[in-house]
Amino acid sequence: MDRIAITGGAPLRGTIPIYGAKNSALKLQAAALLSADPLILENMPDLADTRFMAQLLASLGVEITWIKETRTLRMHAAEISSTIAPYDQVRKMRASFNVLGPLLARVGHATVSLPGGCAIGARPVDLHLKAFEAMGADIVIEQGYVKAAALRGLKGAEIEFPFVSVGATEHAMLAATLAHGETVLKNVAREPEIIDLADCLNAMGARIEGAGTGEIHIRGVTSLKGATHSVVADRIEAGTFALAAAAAGGNVLLQGARFDHLQALIKVLRGAGVEVDAEARGLRVKRNGGRIQPVSFETEPFPGFPTDLQAQAMALLCLAEGQSRIRETIFENRFMHAPELARLGAQIAVHGNEAVVTGVEALKGAPVMATDLRASVSLVIAGLAAEGETVVNRVYHLDRGFEKLEPKLAACGAQIQRLKVEQ
Ligand code: EPZ
Repeated sequence: MDRIAITGGAPLRGTIPIYGAKNSALKLQAAALLSADPLILENMPDLADTRFMAQLLASLGVEITWIKETRTLRMHAAEISSTIAPYDQVRKMRASFNVLGPLLARVGHATVSLPGGCAIGARPVDLHLKAFEAMGADIVIEQGYVKAAALRGLKGAEIEFPFVSVGATEHAMLAATLAHGETVLKNVAREPEIIDLADCLNAMGARIEGAGTGEIHIRGVTSLKGATHSVVADRIEAGTFALAAAAAGGNVLLQGARFDHLQALIKVLRGAGVEVDAEARGLRVKRNGGRIQPVSFETEPFPGFPTDLQAQAMALLCLAEGQSRIRETIFENRFMHAPELARLGAQIAVHGNEAVVTGVEALKGAPVMATDLRASVSLVIAGLAAEGETVVNRVYHLDRGFEKLEPKLAACGAQIQRLKVEQ
């Protein structure tokens, strides 16, 4: 398993290109199943997760062509040859579960493994299944598999989610595009990835209105056509580099990052004493000397502070002049980075879903262990700001969601390298 070695203390200076969003790309990939014509995704992030999704789609009969030079993925589901997503595929990556809705909508049945829990929480899929039932699907859970059938097609329904779920909103949207009649989804997620999915589906001929608001209306159509769509910029990747520049100091331009997608983070960064400005080409983040100031926040659905940036923000606040409080309201077990940050000298007390971070003047490099994707990158951020060497173990987590992390940071002056470990 590879490791990443960082010698901290070098400020970051330069331009970092922001790639397409993993969490949008994965659902856009699932959308390819809805049409017999090709779906072409541009600005595609080349990640372990998006490659894995492509493999799963290939096993269902989708013809896949990656054009690396242009960061383009072409998917052509002329015919669906299998409607089964086995345990091994869904267990390795939860987003695989998103093939269920499109298969159900296009073919009328699907058998997909239940994803099970993961390191950050139990993460059930009850809201997804209730939405499909409301659309007329028969759902049976047997031996860890969801068997879903709607042999005469799905029908439009009014569905009010009891709380906001990104995955359930996207999954219901995907399925409703081909349902008979109108579907109204209430209390839905408003993340930029939802708008991106709606834009792509509409380009394929779907009739979706209201994405980005709390209520989405979808008028079902009989078939969808092919389209070419560019994946929205990854706000989590951009936010991560913003926090890295804040922690290490320096001046970076996050090329392609969207101010309107990062407002909650920008408020926290400015509160911490970091300069953030929108420029024509992206976001500029600057910090030249001066201690980070403490800031308290809680994670919330968009437009609130994203849970996927909580670990990275905690790494920054470990260096604040005073005490910050962080409340995690989305996932029940998303503070696993706290004991690892403590290995670098951070002072963090976790009480249930709240972490109290008492800033220290300096962190000191140490070997640490990555536990999940965002936690891993929080350790990289802390390592960039720490004195001496930090070695992050188990970086395969990072490869799931960050493309070219080390080269992008190294190009801005970070002393960071991957230590290849032969299996
Ligand atoms: C998406 O997960 C993202 N993953 C997550 O990013 C992100 O943290 C999360 O949204 C919140 O923004 C992908 O897009 C692939 P939810 P998702 O449904 O859709 C509970 C990363 O690091 N819930 O909005 O699974 C759930 O357990 C990942 O890239 C139910 O109880 O998140 C959680 O507590 C991690 N029943 C809350 O809702 C359901 O049926 C919100 O989850 C569905 C969800």
